Amino acid sequence: MAFATSSTLTDRLKKYRRFHKVCKPPLASGIITRMVGLTLEAVGLKVAIGHACQIQLSSNSVSGEPRYVDAEVVGFNNQLTYLMPVGKIEGLQPGAKVLPVGNHQSIALGEHLRGRIINGLGVPIDNKGPIAMQDGGRRHPHTINPLHRHPVDQPLDVGVRAINSLLTVGKGQRLGLFAGSGVGKSVLMGMMTRFTQADIVVVGLIGERGREVKEFVDHILGAEGLQKAVVVASPADEAPLMRLRAAQLATQIAESFRDQGKDVLLLMDSLTRFGQAQREIALAIGEPPATRGYPPSVFSKIPELVERAGNAETGGGSITAFYTVLTEGDDLQDPIADSARAILDGHIVLSRALAEEGVYPAIDVEASISRVMPNIVPPNQLKDAQRFKQLLARFKANRDLIAIGAYKRGSDPDIDAAIERFPHLRKFLSQSMTEPALYAQCQAQLSAVLNGNAGAGNAEQGNPSKNSAPGANPAANAKAMPPKTKPANKARARPRPKAKTKARRPLDRR
Ligand SMILES: Nc1ncnc2c1ncn2[C@@H]1O[C@H](COP(=O)(O)OP(=O)(O)OP(=O)(O)O)[C@@H](O)[C@H]1O
Ligand SMILES: [Mg+2]
Repeated sequence: MAFATSSTLTDRLKKYRRFHKVCKPPLASGIITRMVGLTLEAVGLKVAIGHACQIQLSSNSVSGEPRYVDAEVVGFNNQLTYLMPVGKIEGLQPGAKVLPVGNHQSIALGEHLRGRIINGLGVPIDNKGPIAMQDGGRRHPHTINPLHRHPVDQPLDVGVRAINSLLTVGKGQRLGLFAGSGVGKSVLMGMMTRFTQADIVVVGLIGERGREVKEFVDHILGAEGLQKAVVVASPADEAPLMRLRAAQLATQIAESFRDQGKDVLLLMDSLTRFGQAQREIALAIGEPPATRGYPPSVFSKIPELVERAGNAETGGGSITAFYTVLTEGDDLQDPIADSARAILDGHIVLSRALAEEGVYPAIDVEASISRVMPNIVPPNQLKDAQRFKQLLARFKANRDLIAIGAYKRGSDPDIDAAIERFPHLRKFLSQSMTEPALYAQCQAQLSAVLNGNAGAGNAEQGNPSKNSAPGANPAANAKAMPPKTKPANKARARPRPKAKTKARRPLDRR
């Protein structure tokens, strides 16, 4: 009988090497020993942080089928492994089996996501059929060398007049939308989704009321808005881990479109709820609270998420992002608001006072800032924007004096100009939720509203006035105001100059 020589045996074994590579060592299962609040403690597991597991629940009472809940490893302490479930845990028993399942599944990214609404796990919730899943798990955040990022040097048309003209947003810029509840965040986000010139919009609805998701999709976004958007929704009643995942998935989807060279607009509502979800998790696994009940990990998770937006390397796409930040009781010193302001490239503040006066979108242009605007707009627009803010600030600072008739016209040309222009500035800032405002028109309208074209606030009127010379001294117009009246209230102080201006310039309104 002929035996194979040792060299032949080695050659033959080499053939099987490739199988050895794909054979992973078996993972030991564990058991649940304790549950405290949201955290589950297990023994017997030897898996890394972020690893996906399935925990066995009591069997279905009708069919007898075994049931499982997905969970993620969020921490460990000696032999103990801390897990956080991503679904409901009814039916969990002491000693329940924990099975490590390896990598997370994630949805296949691409154009097929356009118009879809999914949850934090990528599962569609819009009854439009399944979306393919792929192995490989949550992709590790794709970090771009900050020196290789393309600078923010081009404006992005977001379709909102006040933003396009006075707080111009650049492609790849990250902004905060600071507002209390009910002042128009969702409507403003809906307007941006429908009117922006970005190639695609990714909307993350994180930790808001469940009812609002439907309302946002059906009424605010509508079919037109949804066509160019992907919505990732994780309402407040979902597990904190799901809310975190939803924000990360929305960012991951935006990254995938950016990798294809697209200009993406990412709208995240809200960053505050994302921070609160991380707080729930961190406190549950024993991290001590630091700033006003927020553990330190919250303040590292927020920049980690926000830094993923921005421009790609030169020649690539961009993610322009708006993160809403809730300022309850209009408290701008909230720790999340504070941390967001420090890491974002600008903030837009929505004012409750304006909303109460019915001025929508209720953008407080004096309190808001776009840090990149000076680098991306022509000098004349920057000058006009500054003049606009000055007039608005002048009027507001002297509003009470003007209202009680204590201000004497002619004492200060700037205040005179502010009084005359104020109704037009207000009109310019107001924009109905169905009216788009193109960036190119906004510039002309801004210049027109400052130079005396009373109708410039309307989208269809963008041409600077023919009969009022550009740069005409607004103080001269103020002299045409009626002699000092004693208005009973602020509202009555304004209509008069408007009527006068119209009478003097019949051609202003085309
Ligand atoms: N551009 C607009 N034109 C007219 N009305 C508006 C506009 N924007 C907002 N509103 C009014 O303000 C209301 C509240 O807006 P919205 O739901 O967007 O607020 P929110 O800040 O998202 O509230 P929440 O904090 O409850 O989520 C709307 O129902 C609408 O009546
Ligand atoms: Mg809302």
